Amino acid sequence: MVVSCILYTELTWYCYFSAVDMELVTIVDEQDNKYCYKRYQGYPFNVEVIGNVGSQLDKIAQLDVKEEDVLVCVFPKSGTHWLYNTVMMLRSGTLDYHGTPTMMELQDFNLIEEMPSPRTFGSHLRCRFLPEQMKNGKGKVITITRNPKDIVVSLYHMLKNMGDIGYQGTFEGFLKRFNSEESFVGGGTWFAWMKDLEDWKSQNLLSLSYHDFKQNTYANVVKLAKFLEVDHDEKFLRSISENIHFDKLKESHNKTSPASDRWKHISEDGRLPIYRKGQVGEWKNMFTVAQSEEFDHFYNESVKLMDLKIKTEFE
Ligand code: A3P
Repeated sequence: MVVSCILYTELTWYCYFSAVDMELVTIVDEQDNKYCYKRYQGYPFNVEVIGNVGSQLDKIAQLDVKEEDVLVCVFPKSGTHWLYNTVMMLRSGTLDYHGTPTMMELQDFNLIEEMPSPRTFGSHLRCRFLPEQMKNGKGKVITITRNPKDIVVSLYHMLKNMGDIGYQGTFEGFLKRFNSEESFVGGGTWFAWMKDLEDWKSQNLLSLSYHDFKQNTYANVVKLAKFLEVDHDEKFLRSISENIHFDKLKESHNKTSPASDRWKHISEDGRLPIYRKGQVGEWKNMFTVAQSEEFDHFYNESVKLMDLKIKTEFE
């Protein structure tokens, strides 16, 4: 395999393996923070996506979907674990904590295919990369969306706790990266991710809002139960609402979440640093006025440019 480097700008280097379609890109930003991602067909992907990206995406696209499959597909730091654990409580009929979902793009595909039914997977991929059969209405897809200012704060703090593969620069530097085309956590910007979501055509998608889930937890649990076609009495649905409270999930994650070998290279105990504060509006403690105004400008421009219907309340 030939490794070569091209000087991109004074401070930015692109390094790639020319023997495959996938490029391994290393960016050094203005603040000297180095980070890596995998570029495939023009899209940026997390380096954790398996192999050369292309073959994993092909396998995902061609997945033999079962009617009872459920995919929890969420832009990172928008409440993936919260939603997944609610779905698992509803589907298993227990109040057990189920930890981190099996992410389609981040796991050996044999593990995905061999999961016993009923299968519940996770993904951070943009909708365009999801299984074709799901796009055509087979199985169920559930998502949750969050104010992008809170997402960027949540992500920044998580990556700070992830050593070399995380991000150790300033929040200012991270904001630039989040809104750039090289933002690999969601395969491009949050806006591009949302555009794919809005373009989903089938009726098998349920989209929740982080803000509403927090304010009206029980009503959202009922909505999820209905969508998942699971039959539970009110008492059990109310116990789920109590057991998915932030404090409970955080405690369970730090205590009982199975330490996974998959994440041993990130943290010693194999647990991802997922839960921080679980608040709406946490961005106000992090953004300066200037950063907030710049973000709003970028937000408004992107919504216009991409013709997005979404309306976010930055409360
Ligand atoms: P913070 O970093 O703001 O605390 P993901 O699972 O997609 O990585 O999302 C993680 C974010 O969702 C974290 O946000 C986490 O605290 C928040 N979260 C998880 N469970 C929650 C709950 N029950 N209520 C509110 N926020 C929750």
